[in-house]
Amino acid sequence: MAEITAPRGVRDVLPDESWKWAYVLGQFRQIADGFGFSEIHLPIFEHTELFCRGIGDTTDVVEKEMYTFEDRSGRSLTLRPEVTASTVRSYLEQNMASRPQPVKLWTAGPMFRYERPQKGRYRQFWQLDVEVLGSDSPLVDVEVIELSLELYRRLGMTNLEVVINSVGCPACRPAYREALRAYLRPHLGELCESCRSRFDRNPLRILDCKNPTCKAITEGAPDVMDSLCDECSGHFAAVRKGLDLLGARTHIDKRLVRGLDYYTKTAYEVLSGDLGAQNAVCGGGRYDNLAESIGGPHLPGVGFASGIERIVLTMEQQGCSFGREPALDAYVIAVDETARDEALKLLYALRREGLSADMDYQGRAMKAQFKSASQAAFACILGGDEVARSVVALKEMASGNQEECAFDGAAQVIRSRLGR
Ligand code: HAM
Repeated sequence: MAEITAPRGVRDVLPDESWKWAYVLGQFRQIADGFGFSEIHLPIFEHTELFCRGIGDTTDVVEKEMYTFEDRSGRSLTLRPEVTASTVRSYLEQNMASRPQPVKLWTAGPMFRYERPQKGRYRQFWQLDVEVLGSDSPLVDVEVIELSLELYRRLGMTNLEVVINSVGCPACRPAYREALRAYLRPHLGELCESCRSRFDRNPLRILDCKNPTCKAITEGAPDVMDSLCDECSGHFAAVRKGLDLLGARTHIDKRLVRGLDYYTKTAYEVLSGDLGAQNAVCGGGRYDNLAESIGGPHLPGVGFASGIERIVLTMEQQGCSFGREPALDAYVIAVDETARDEALKLLYALRREGLSADMDYQGRAMKAQFKSASQAAFACILGGDEVARSVVALKEMASGNQEECAFDGAAQVIRSRLGR
């Protein structure tokens, strides 16, 4: 029988890597907490309608990338391709408007998109996400952007570019869309097939096309900044001023439109110079009309999501530190059968004292036990002689230094040697 493998585009995150994820997640949690955000857990699947209406029917995500299925009662459900629409759904459903505003939330977890897998692009991937709901202040945009930058700073990431743009609002975007269509119309035949189909449905997405011909054509496209209404251009200026005040270096990219249709005003991305084609480590922006598009009242919001796989890839590439690789405090070694019971007692005594400890249950040879112990700070060696005298031979694995201590005092000695 053929061995079953994982589906294409998903990954197993093994212990060699999972500790790095834990480090990144820990730093993110600390920073988000420090910025006054609270954690929220949201469902992995939602009604398909939420994403169709929230993200937009004509986006690649909704048209081509969703994992949609019918449950046993015939409802159409979708594995979340992102978590912004879910956060807004939860805010409305849980009446978070009755809480002090704005509501500042963070979450982390897996997202699902049926994309062509490649380095840094998977069909199941993790996002670190923050959302601020209930404020239209440009200073909130600044806070969200600065939170992402603080995370990358704290993680030691460099060679990043922050690109920012305004995509306008329902008041000024239609005029820009028309100006763009007017500019592109004479070039329609030269555009790639997907851009030709975007022309009527979603022409702004053409600005984002990676095809060199489309790119060259859009080079001369009208500048979105020239079409912004007073409110949008005032908001953009205030966001830029705030970022300047904080010393955050950003570049305006007038072609940045983002792949999700809910954005209004601010859109931004953080690009890594060390990732190749899938270079966005972070994307976000403001979405003041998302709540209305899913049937709620007007609710301004702004947030970002950052792919943890891309963060870790960048950090590895740049030789960033992930903190200390987790190691056991102690590994208990029974030299022979006579010491096995005492070894087991010592193992659990150490664990009850809050030390991380392990031992071999298979009766493996000393050499194999010492190999396992090499991952620990200390080996606690017990043979017949030690058992008879109620002592433990304590070997510090890094230095090779060995000392003897009382069986009952082993936890305390290890703790003091570890400086805890
Ligand atoms: P997004 O740009 O679609 O935005 O995704 C955000 C980040 O998720 C990307 O910059 C990238 O780091 C990561 N990412 C996306 N797709 C993949 C993939 N297939 N494999 C690996 N990583 C991926 C959003 O999802 C919005 N919800 C962000 C947001 C929050 N906007 C406002 N609030």
